[in-house]
Amino acid sequence: MRSGLGSHRLPHRRFVGIVAGMGRMRIGDMPYYMKLGKMPKKRHTQFRRPDGALYSEELFGTEGFVGPSSILYHIHPPTQVTGWKKLYSTKVEYVEQDVMRMRHVKSQNFKKHGDPVEGRVVIFGNSDVEMSICQPDKQMEYHFKNGQGDECLFIHFGSGTVYSMFGTLKFGKKDYIILPKGTIYKIVFDERPDDGSDDEEYGGFSKGDMPLGKFVCFETCNASHFLPPPRYISKKTAQFLEHAPYCERDLRVPFEDEDHPLAYDEKGDFEVRIKALNSVHSYTYPYHPLEVVGWDGCYYPYCFNIHDFAPITGQLHMPPPIHQTFEGHNFVICSFCPRALDFHPNAIPVPYNHSNIDSDEIMYYVEGNYKARRGISQGSISVHPQGIPHGPHPGTVEASLGKKWTDEMAVMCDTFRPMFPTKACLELDDPHYPESWRQDHFAPDEVRSAQGQETSPDAPINTWD
Ligand SMILES: [Fe+2]
Repeated sequence: MRSGLGSHRLPHRRFVGIVAGMGRMRIGDMPYYMKLGKMPKKRHTQFRRPDGALYSEELFGTEGFVGPSSILYHIHPPTQVTGWKKLYSTKVEYVEQDVMRMRHVKSQNFKKHGDPVEGRVVIFGNSDVEMSICQPDKQMEYHFKNGQGDECLFIHFGSGTVYSMFGTLKFGKKDYIILPKGTIYKIVFDERPDDGSDDEEYGGFSKGDMPLGKFVCFETCNASHFLPPPRYISKKTAQFLEHAPYCERDLRVPFEDEDHPLAYDEKGDFEVRIKALNSVHSYTYPYHPLEVVGWDGCYYPYCFNIHDFAPITGQLHMPPPIHQTFEGHNFVICSFCPRALDFHPNAIPVPYNHSNIDSDEIMYYVEGNYKARRGISQGSISVHPQGIPHGPHPGTVEASLGKKWTDEMAVMCDTFRPMFPTKACLELDDPHYPESWRQDHFAPDEVRSAQGQETSPDAPINTWD
């Protein structure tokens, strides 16, 4: 299900080459200017509320005063808080940090748990990025601010609304949601019908097993931001280039309308939970925390549906970087989408074996024909560490010959430093997965129907790079 936000795409965006004089900011960093709501003609000038008092201007910036930023106009001073306490620790404990092996983590066995923030369970991570799974069974009753890192959510199942200080985002199945560090937000999932009629839409999970939805969350731990690869972006104008597999029009930015106001001018006690120092704190705001009447700048949340990623195809097998969607420091996020396969008459459509000597490769399987990768099914996570070459599963090379297209869909996180599992990860781990790679790939009796693949060239094959 798509969230159908065409009318809300890029309502105020214009392209401005703003990269000059940005200090440490790389060319390509969050370059797109937009504005929403009301603001004075000149920044840092008087701007008054209807009652005559001044609005409170805030520079919402990163990396000192030289990183991506936006300027916000608050009804109330954003410094006004009335109480706080530490709630719980989010410090992640990694295990088996000295064990290097391929893994298959069955996130489909993950149990529903918590709300869209406290229900996140980290399964892999290092000092650059953490990857968690969330299958919330209740809504958030507070607003949240992650003061530690950017968040990139991939919604596998479910739909809903993100209410943020920058405006509203509607999301649906297979959306990425980018939530920059410091954004105050609340995620509200749409409730599912009780009759189970949409089980298929939820991968066969009943409402009892997956009440609101499921998403994967990547969170930066090294102060970097989720950004498009710099090679997609013009150095002159900061615009997405023609060869990029997606562009500005595909990004769904915050909006406001009659039903989704930008500012909620309400007084009372409102809880904002703030993550910082590996702990979540509860702060009390004496007003609704979404009370920004206007903002402009280049730092804001947005959505991007994986179906809007236009895959790059070639005569011969194209390597994983063509699937790259986002990157942070020391890791990338890639989208493997349905696409035509290689058109050389003798092409081998599945990947050549490869030693990703500098990368751990973590693949989250979204959709596809899983016969080509043993034991894998929707919601599986495979991990191929930097120490061992990987490639097509035994039997899949011959089966791929002549195939014209793939219906696979996966989200991959490649890291430049080892990713360590958590205890929660080991509970979902299939210890027999490494055994599935023992067979000879090119046995004389291997047939093209191996692994249950259909032999027709019109039938899809999955490559699972
Ligand atoms: Fe790979």
